[in-house]
Amino acid sequence: GITRHYKFDIKLQNVTRLCQTKSIVTVNGQFPGPRIIAREGDTVLVKVVNHVQNNVTLHWHGVRQLRSGWADGPAYITQCPIQTGQAYVYNFTITGQRGTLFWHAHISWLRATLYGPIVILPKRHVPYPFPQPHKEVPIIFGEWWKADTETVINQAMQTGGGPNVSDAFTINGLPGPLYNCSAKDTFRLKVKSGKTYLLRLINAALNDELFFTIANHTLTVVEADAVYVKPFKTSIVLITPGQTTNVLLKTKQHSPNTTFLIAARPYATGPASFDNSTTAGILEYQQPSSTPNTKKTKLPLLKPKLPFFNDTNFATNFSNKVRSLANKKFPANVPRKVDKQFFFTVGLGLSQCSKNQTCQGPNNTRLAASINNVSFVQPNTALLQAHFSNQSKGVYTTDFPANPPFKFNYTGTPPNNILVTSGTKVVVLPYKAGVEVIMQDTSIIGAESHPLHLHGFNFFIVGQGFGNYNPKKDPAKFNLVDPAERNTVGVPSGGWVAIRFLADNPGVWFMHCHLEVHTSWGLKMAWIVTDGKRPNQKLPPPPSDLPKC
Ligand code: C2O
Repeated sequence: GITRHYKFDIKLQNVTRLCQTKSIVTVNGQFPGPRIIAREGDTVLVKVVNHVQNNVTLHWHGVRQLRSGWADGPAYITQCPIQTGQAYVYNFTITGQRGTLFWHAHISWLRATLYGPIVILPKRHVPYPFPQPHKEVPIIFGEWWKADTETVINQAMQTGGGPNVSDAFTINGLPGPLYNCSAKDTFRLKVKSGKTYLLRLINAALNDELFFTIANHTLTVVEADAVYVKPFKTSIVLITPGQTTNVLLKTKQHSPNTTFLIAARPYATGPASFDNSTTAGILEYQQPSSTPNTKKTKLPLLKPKLPFFNDTNFATNFSNKVRSLANKKFPANVPRKVDKQFFFTVGLGLSQCSKNQTCQGPNNTRLAASINNVSFVQPNTALLQAHFSNQSKGVYTTDFPANPPFKFNYTGTPPNNILVTSGTKVVVLPYKAGVEVIMQDTSIIGAESHPLHLHGFNFFIVGQGFGNYNPKKDPAKFNLVDPAERNTVGVPSGGWVAIRFLADNPGVWFMHCHLEVHTSWGLKMAWIVTDGKRPNQKLPPPPSDLPKC
């Protein structure tokens, strides 16, 4: 591979959406941010220079970061933030991955405006396992608030109540014609008849899973989270925050100027976060040849159908269809031996409050999000630095519970043991351990699915189901042949998923709900993977420009 250099200047830029202008934090003044393009095997160097008042870190979401944990980016997990006037070079090699990923800020709620696509092409002369597309188009979904990001996060943290709803969803930064005062900010996909387009879908929204569709067209899913999948046809794609999905769009025979609506709308199983606004773009057929298109006829838009906002069956069926290319003869690389097993309850709960009403939830609120009833507290120095220099004292403890503090029983009604404690607790995994994690959604307060994202690994989704996970019966049904291999999985509302991964990447790896509001409330934890014995199984020392706290 070659080395690709990028310079990311973090600076403010005035951007107008929905008829209001606000100053936002951007990379190089662009919104959405610039695209990173590399081939499998390339090394990427991104020099980030911070010219704004906010502390910043960037994360290369889904990049495996094999022995390059210093470049992963979550604030206070792998690094201290890049402060005003400082610079840091993220240095990583893309190993064994090709497809679509994305980068985003990983501090506070800055990823509301700081995000962009990562396009990883296969190695030179290696074709796609599907028809070579005529064109490739990144499509990145986001959310737009009229208020500034600080106000939005403060609101979310202080209410301790329902999540705050954005003013618009966006396609490539554009809300589209269905919002007031937004028609000119519409994403247009110009296509020719009878060609194949590769759409690289990315959900960079903060708090919403999305349905995506194009009226009157069928899509073929070919890749998810930068792993090829067995192609399958669908008219609607479900994509959670943190997930990426490549789809092929085969255009039909249509006369020039024929248009179709492209649309994305939230899927949420909890009414609390239901927001029926729809971001739309326009698929526009062009002249087949170079004949300039002069007529600007406005044809009626064909409106697509999307599932109802709480269509959990659709969601489950969709995620079941995503299968790796493996088969019985060449099964997926799922760890067969489970050395470390975990059962995690994932959800919202109530924090303990003392007599004088000090609560352990974020900002002293009673509502907290947790895993195994532990609401994670962000340390004020980076865990990876503390781990590397053997100075965990006062930073973190290694007693993150492998099981919930009580026997969890999902009945649909709240049990009485939903109290949450807080702490900076981690799990230590020996190098090369086979790990299985059952994640059970509690649905105790609110009923939402949680897109759990793991840094530093892809995991295999070996099983999922509704109700209580049954340790006697369910493991027999696990798919060890062709499970999806991803970095983000939706833990279904009122259900569970089972994942497996091999702990072959030494470092400290964050795992959290990719709904930003839940991360802020504490739905997160970290894994420490120890070094292996051989030199090439150890995490190298930190780069000299790693920011200090
Ligand atoms: Cu895309 Cu830790 O996140």
